[in-house]
Amino acid sequence: MSKVIVITGASEGIGAELARQLGKQGHKLVLGARTESKLKQTADSIDAETLAVPTDVTKRTDVENLRDQAIAKFGHIDVWVNNAGRGITRPVLELSDDDLDDMWSVNVKSVMYGAQAVVPHMRARKTGQIINVSSMLGRIPMASVRSVYSACKAAVNSLTANMRNDLRGSGVDVTLIIPGMVATGFHMNTRHAPETRPEAPPGMQIQTAEEVAAVIVDAINKPVPEVYTNPAHAPVAAKYYQDVAAFEAQMGA
Ligand SMILES: NC(=O)c1ccc[n+]([C@@H]2O[C@H](COP(=O)([O-])OP(=O)(O)OC[C@H]3O[C@@H](n4cnc5c(N)ncnc54)[C@H](OP(=O)(O)O)[C@@H]3O)[C@@H](O)[C@H]2O)c1
Repeated sequence: MSKVIVITGASEGIGAELARQLGKQGHKLVLGARTESKLKQTADSIDAETLAVPTDVTKRTDVENLRDQAIAKFGHIDVWVNNAGRGITRPVLELSDDDLDDMWSVNVKSVMYGAQAVVPHMRARKTGQIINVSSMLGRIPMASVRSVYSACKAAVNSLTANMRNDLRGSGVDVTLIIPGMVATGFHMNTRHAPETRPEAPPGMQIQTAEEVAAVIVDAINKPVPEVYTNPAHAPVAAKYYQDVAAFEAQMGA
């Protein structure tokens, strides 16, 4: 069945690839991101009915406009993917007020703006799905240079779980996506980006945007509460929560 799917952060990376895969399945797509030229490029690469809406997810009015334009064009919204996000390359003790505010706005407020904009519409229709894209760093804060980004994604995890419980029985599913490291422009797009692309830690498996998008497509076709895009990460998370001290000691070894 063709669905109307809104994706934020769809101008590049995981969001753009997700749009392409969903387009191939015949879904109608509404794409939001700030850079109009890249958004248009993504829209042009999709073989499906697509609407591109320049959107800054840190602005509530922009997010509400994204919702309104989607409904005006397609009549309703079935799925809303809060995918837009940004990292940081700065350790905890060096964070400025602006670093903290920027990370909270783009990674946490954006998710709240999206959910608060569209859930009343989905509730009224008694059907829908919110998908929030988190990070393995929100579950295990193991890359200290990502500092407040990890903390923001941990907040996304909590808010997503709260929302899921609040919406139980309403017909609205809430799904958390937990990618590990993914080969996109994310690392060079971080606030205080390094001059060269960082090396992946030894043994860290890097997924492609295609692999991660395919997991999100599956979660749309068959909603689940949460999913690690790399199944090998579930036991790693379990190990962390079983014994944080041992895990940290092993990481530092
Ligand atoms: N890549 C990884 O290793 C990785 C790992 C775990 C989780 N994730 C998460 O996966 C999601 C997608 O990341 P990605 O790897 O695809 O990153 P990316 O390649 O850097 O793409 C980020 C997307 O978010 C958009 N964006 C950034 N700030 C925005 C804003 N204020 N308003 C609207 N859109 C904004 C960007 O578009 P504009 O700049 O045009 O606005 C772009 O389309 C993020 O939530 C990220 O935290 C990524």
